[in-house]
Amino acid sequence: MSRSLSVVVLAAGMGTRMKSAHPKVLHKIAGKPMVNHVIDAARSLHAEQTLVVVGPDMAALEKAVAPHPTFEQTDRLGTAHAVLAARNALEGATGDVLVLYGDSPLFTAATLERLIAARQEGPHAVAVLGFTPDDPAGYGRLATDPYTGELISIIEDKECNDAERRIGFCNSGVMCFAADGLVALLDAIGNDNAKGEYYLTDAVAIARQQGRTCVAVEVAEEETLGVNSRAQLAVAEDLMQTRLRDAAMANGATLVDPASVFLCADTEIGRDVVIEPNVVFGPGVRIGDDVTIKAFSHLEGCDIAMGADIGPYARLRPGAEIGEGARIGNFVEVKKATIENGAKVNHLSYIGDARVGAKANIGAGTITCNYDGYQKYRTDIGAGAFVGSNSALVAPVTIGDGAIIAAGSTLGGEVAADALVLVRAQKVEKPGWAAKFREKMRALTGKA
Ligand code: UD1
Ligand code: CA
Repeated sequence: MSRSLSVVVLAAGMGTRMKSAHPKVLHKIAGKPMVNHVIDAARSLHAEQTLVVVGPDMAALEKAVAPHPTFEQTDRLGTAHAVLAARNALEGATGDVLVLYGDSPLFTAATLERLIAARQEGPHAVAVLGFTPDDPAGYGRLATDPYTGELISIIEDKECNDAERRIGFCNSGVMCFAADGLVALLDAIGNDNAKGEYYLTDAVAIARQQGRTCVAVEVAEEETLGVNSRAQLAVAEDLMQTRLRDAAMANGATLVDPASVFLCADTEIGRDVVIEPNVVFGPGVRIGDDVTIKAFSHLEGCDIAMGADIGPYARLRPGAEIGEGARIGNFVEVKKATIENGAKVNHLSYIGDARVGAKANIGAGTITCNYDGYQKYRTDIGAGAFVGSNSALVAPVTIGDGAIIAAGSTLGGEVAADALVLVRAQKVEKPGWAAKFREKMRALTGKA
């Protein structure tokens, strides 16, 4: 269900202060590129169209925001000029047009809703999200009418006189416009100012000259953070992690030491899940109810069913599917493998490209040898099978239900259900040999 809302995401800047070969907005926060946080906020507003303004040679960015249309701003001539890069898509727009920056990933959908509602309530030509920072230097100042509260103009920092510079109420950058007349309004903006740029913020004064009204809505400073450097990227990450941890706990998970658990924007956690300290989640993790993730585990791209027990020190890589009540113990790595209900891989194993049947037991140190340097091969272990410690399963391997593999076996091929396989060199024992050896060597070397 969409509504008459267009979102324009400005992302033409390369972000030189990031010292990066990649566009700034592709740097990740909680495992997701900044620009995708912004786009996902637009999605939760049910925007009819989301238009992304990019710079030249940003194919990777175009791909990251697909299928949303992109518009290239060849020269960076200011924020109004940037919005006009999407002119063709904006000419037919109705309702609201919300302008967001791709490098400001912390605005919540609820705040953006509040801004849109304020714009419509007037109805006003422009509604601006303002905030009151400790230090307003660098921000556009919001001049409001003391009697009506209406927004009169936005004065960019470089254009302020002394009185204006003392205004504490600042532009966060997020602005909502009435779609009706927007392109004409932006076309009326000039660049006769200190920076020689087309300031989007001039739209407020021009709208008022046209006899229309504008309004400002206040938001907490925390949401307004823009990322210009790696240090600010870390601050944004920290704020986002706090939100994700709080949400996980609000939804019924126990985080023993929340500050040491790192979540991804897409991490899904069920109820009564316990997450111990120092656990890291990469993208694509889903955890069912009653699961315990013990300390120092690293998980990505995996699905964990109800009641499973993971770690400590477990590593679940993409394609790991852990069944109900299954157990993955310490120093176990699982990749592209299904561990069925109630199966146990308790210690020091690598299970890759495999299926471990229900209630099978995989002994300590078992390795699936899945790769010959060229191709990957599968290991299939039947339900209730028992693989003894330190076995090397040289894939392709198929082990039937209930079979037993003796400890220390190295094997490939097929094993029938309920069979025993024992691949182990014969034991050779020579009585007294060691004592005689030592006697001879002492005589030869004179050492004790
Ligand atoms: C802008 C606002 C200012 C506000 C501040 C909040 C204007 C004129 N000023 O100032 O009132 O307080 O943000 O952070 O809008 N961009 C383009 N193309 C351009 C210019 C900018 O895509 O030609 C993008 C940038 O990549 C960035 C965003 O627009 O994501 C803001 O541009 P920036 O130059 O940082 O604006 P400020 O001077 O900080
Ligand atoms: Ca800025």
